[in-house]
Amino acid sequence: MDQIVIRGGQRLKGRIPISGAKNAALTLLPCALLTDEPLTLRNLPRLADVDGFGHLLNQLGCSTTIEGSRPEDFGRVMTARATTLTSTVAPYDIVRKMRASILVLGPLLARAGEATVSLPGGCAIGNRPIDLHLKALEAFGAEIELASGYVKAVAPGGRLKGGKFTFPVVSVGATENAVMAAVLAKGTCILENAAREPEIVDLCNCLVAMGASIDGIGTETLTIEGVDRLHGATYRVMADRIEAGSYACAAVITEGDVELVGAQANEMDATLAALRQAGATVEETKTGIRVAMSGRAEPVTLSTAPYPGFATDMQAQFMAMATLGSGASLFTETIFENRYMHVPELARMGCDIDVRGRSAVVRGVDHLVGAPVMATDLRASMSLIIAGLAAQGQTEVNRVYHLDRGYERLEEKLQSVGADIERISAG
Ligand code: EPZ
Repeated sequence: MDQIVIRGGQRLKGRIPISGAKNAALTLLPCALLTDEPLTLRNLPRLADVDGFGHLLNQLGCSTTIEGSRPEDFGRVMTARATTLTSTVAPYDIVRKMRASILVLGPLLARAGEATVSLPGGCAIGNRPIDLHLKALEAFGAEIELASGYVKAVAPGGRLKGGKFTFPVVSVGATENAVMAAVLAKGTCILENAAREPEIVDLCNCLVAMGASIDGIGTETLTIEGVDRLHGATYRVMADRIEAGSYACAAVITEGDVELVGAQANEMDATLAALRQAGATVEETKTGIRVAMSGRAEPVTLSTAPYPGFATDMQAQFMAMATLGSGASLFTETIFENRYMHVPELARMGCDIDVRGRSAVVRGVDHLVGAPVMATDLRASMSLIIAGLAAQGQTEVNRVYHLDRGYERLEEKLQSVGADIERISAG
């Protein structure tokens, strides 16, 4: 397995191109199942999960062709076309490797009137149930059965119908599945307490470009008038606000000065506010966002919440940044039940972190010491990279396949702003 080796102490200076958003791409790709016409997505990031989703689409009979990048994009162009579906089954061996596969459930149900999708199971950060996905689809007329580890869903008469569902808790994935199911329903579907993440806005905007009728985009109430069919479209994937925030934390901990090229400030308010709370200079530029820091980060108090709150996907990275801060920082993780897997690994580098249930107190230390550490999940892996960039000596991050799921060309991007970092291929 590959390893990433970092020799800490370099201040990051320069411009980092921000790729297309993983969590937008993974909900835009299944939209291709909703029409027999081609869906062309621009600015797709080069990520393992995107490749995996393309493979799943192929299994369902959807062709995918990759072209080069447009000059104004960092990502590639992919055209996906499901002229006819050859299968409505998402098998266990694919779903277990990539939870986002569950996002074919809604589109298959909408297009084919049926879907059989393996239950995704849990992961490192929590048990990740999908009960809200299923309840929302049932509210739109789906009949759902759980058998032998699979969800079997059917739309009676081949088509979902109008309905209303209020989410008891905000769920990004369940909102995405419900919206993709509703766009071809016969009638009006209303979702209340829907997720409002920018990736959901990207999904809705893409569906509207394909001919869907959605009101309330960006708000917690979505009203979807079902249509008889959707047509193809060309749509550009939004910039990855979590990648941008991750590199911002790296700039702060190394007392650097970095421009996040392509990052959209209006999608990152809570992250930018947290950076300013830490004492960073944060300013919009013509081409992105500049983040600069001198001295130690100020203590921060951060509690994760659904958008527009502070993103749970930013918690581990800010925690790494706080380990060299000037005081004690407090983190509260309200979304997932086990999202502190990075703490024991950071402790190996000399961090002072005290976890009590959903909260963690991080006391700034004088310095970190590089060490061999183990990546456990995507964002935890990035927190280890961030700490390694500022640690004295060498840090070896193992199991970097976690990183490859969400960070495109990570070592290249960091090398380009002065980091002493390399990937050691283990063959
Ligand atoms: C999406 O996961 C993201 N993944 C996650 O990013 C992100 O952390 C999460 O949203 C929250 O923002 C993708 O977009 C591919 P949820 P998702 O449904 O949809 C509970 C990353 O690092 N819940 O909003 O799975 C759930 O257990 C990944 O890029 C139910 O109880 O998250 C959690 O406590 C990690 N029942 C909370 O809701 C359900 O049916 C929020 O989960 C669904 C969710």
